[in-house]
Amino acid sequence: MSVSRPLPSPEFLVLHSQRSTVILEHHVEEAPIWRYWGPRLPEGCSPAAGLRTTRPLPSFMLDFDQPLTLVPTFGVGWFGQSALLAHRCGSDFAQAVTRCDIEWSVPARALVLHLTDAVAQLCVDVTLALDDASDVLTVRTRLTNLADTPLEVQWLAAATLPLPGQASTVRSYAGQHNHEFLLQTDTLSRSLWRRENRRGRTSHDCFPGAVVTTPGATDDSGLVFGAHLAWSGNHQQSIEWLHDGQYQWQLGEWLAPGEGLLAPGQSLHTPEVVATCSLQGLNGLAANFHAELRARLNWPGGSMRPRPVHLNTWEAFYFDLKSGDIMALADAAAEVGVERFVLDDGWFHGRHHDRAGLGDWWPDADKFPRGLDALVQHVNALGMEFGLWVEPEMINPDSELHRAHPDWALQIAGRALITARNQLVLDIARPEAADYLFGKLDTLLRSLPIRYLKWDHNRDLTTAGLAGGLGSAGYRAQVHALYGLLVRLRAAHPEVEIESCSGGGGRIDFAILRHTHRVWASDCIDALSRLQIQRGFGQFFPPEILGSHIGTAPTHTTGRSQALAFRAAVAMTGHLGVELDVRHLDSATRQNLSAWIARYKAWRDCLHHGRIWRGELADGLVWQAHGDAEARELLLFVYRCQPTTHRYTPPLRLPMLDAAVRYHVEQLAPIEGEGAVLSPSPFFDALRDGGLELDGAWMAQAGLPMPRTTAETCFIVRLQKVSA
Ligand code: GLA
Repeated sequence: MSVSRPLPSPEFLVLHSQRSTVILEHHVEEAPIWRYWGPRLPEGCSPAAGLRTTRPLPSFMLDFDQPLTLVPTFGVGWFGQSALLAHRCGSDFAQAVTRCDIEWSVPARALVLHLTDAVAQLCVDVTLALDDASDVLTVRTRLTNLADTPLEVQWLAAATLPLPGQASTVRSYAGQHNHEFLLQTDTLSRSLWRRENRRGRTSHDCFPGAVVTTPGATDDSGLVFGAHLAWSGNHQQSIEWLHDGQYQWQLGEWLAPGEGLLAPGQSLHTPEVVATCSLQGLNGLAANFHAELRARLNWPGGSMRPRPVHLNTWEAFYFDLKSGDIMALADAAAEVGVERFVLDDGWFHGRHHDRAGLGDWWPDADKFPRGLDALVQHVNALGMEFGLWVEPEMINPDSELHRAHPDWALQIAGRALITARNQLVLDIARPEAADYLFGKLDTLLRSLPIRYLKWDHNRDLTTAGLAGGLGSAGYRAQVHALYGLLVRLRAAHPEVEIESCSGGGGRIDFAILRHTHRVWASDCIDALSRLQIQRGFGQFFPPEILGSHIGTAPTHTTGRSQALAFRAAVAMTGHLGVELDVRHLDSATRQNLSAWIARYKAWRDCLHHGRIWRGELADGLVWQAHGDAEARELLLFVYRCQPTTHRYTPPLRLPMLDAAVRYHVEQLAPIEGEGAVLSPSPFFDALRDGGLELDGAWMAQAGLPMPRTTAETCFIVRLQKVSA
């Protein structure tokens, strides 16, 4: 009988959450080796032995085996992408960890790895935490220059993550202004996959994150991985195939030349990476990100109030603001049930068009001779909160501020200023510029009961030189200064909510959402376009922070027209607003708008808590369901985007339902429009007329029948568990 001999085993660092596990292999004189990030392993389960003993060396390789570590470095045996690229005036171009010390902050949940390179004289501290409830792994890195000469850092990954060899596709988001969150699906191969953003803000066209799927993964099942860099500036990420068949995924800040220059003793802190995996497909992954973000949101008063219905004045007036018109719009808004009235661009000094005024943050004396007081009082008297649009980081050449401080704009000496939308970017890393902005905003917030700021940022950064063009690149300084300004304002005015708007979706990330409470996902309010934008958004962000408005028909950005019911059904799954001139609606349309707003108010509790499941059905249908994690009660929205091409519309499978119980199913809102329902049937009559009891198992496996309707309609039903 043979007796198995235990192999010598190194120390394993194991982190568990409810549904995922991280394992690193620790050796005292090198960086920890990545062994596992994936679905939960049982307590006590560990690799059989040190990685090197389990993989024989291939031919023509180094006699030293260098696997993927938490911080792979260049020049001493690692040939893949490095997590660090740095040098000292050309020397010390290679790094390798010579010592690794472990500091557990929470056993099995969070630790800091102190990695030192005694030769290159630097240390890298990597902080990892795995959240039990959300299954989100957070990783951030700090590099410190221990030598007495400067260290020039070109690249420092915030995180290097392992992906299993069966990873097959990467879903990332491209786009542009008005077309954000455009899904791009790439096949992973031996070619390097890489996305970079150098626009100085999170950007419309390169979301800092992605989702990696494995074969067979769907919306509801299969193994998927997601990661996001919580940062509102330049970024890069890459996925690289490795010779052991797995992939490495690096995410971090893209540093402009000079931004990573570390004086002796100085440290470079990376943003945080939030990453998660799920065996429940894309919807399971989204639920993890949503749970994590919800735990981070910093609400006035400590918790989220029901999301008030907005009226935003932009598409009703653009710059043509007249006090009487605004008050009349406020009257009409209050009548249909609006709860927060937001005065958009055009209210401040000299702002009659987009060529002047940015920087001069006091009410325009022509439009508001006695300030905003009367308007704010009027809005408050109607029972609505007042909100105000600002774009603090910007400056128009035609402004009092620019005439007084032309050196405050980001610029490079000797180079022409490049305007975008006729504006320049203010160098807010200058303390005097930040103080100026704080002073102006503080005065506004102190003098008036403004409860909401829509904080815009309408251009990419160019010639981003600090200190009047004499200094260095200011991309990252600009982002840190913004966070600093927001912290200061929130501390002074904790009751004020802030929306992150950046020409629509240009600044949506977990970092800006530490200081803000809503995002404007796109300047495009076309409901069909919004469905696609909101689907991409929802992969990472929960619905209650999604600003989504009922706009006009035809839509200003696309020229397409959709029925009010469709526009409302798309908008109400986020944080609802109205962005049209309610004064000009006929009374039937106004009543209809009120009815949709009333539905939103009745449903928002369900819409904005719990989980979301989303999917697509052949034949032009996309759907989403909002409800509690146990699917006791669900609100289901099925959008018909295209005319049907099937004789019989296929039923919709709802895999989240409890197969052991029956559900009461009821249609909640009529499918509106002349001839919108193509043919009636007794089943749908009954759903409208009090509802029906249906088997959870049947709807999970065979599906809920779908009505035959025209395109651009929404079928809304509620499903409630009736028996165990
Ligand atoms: C950006 C915003 C819009 C509006 C305008 C005002 O485009 O996304 O909602 O506020 O600025 O100039």
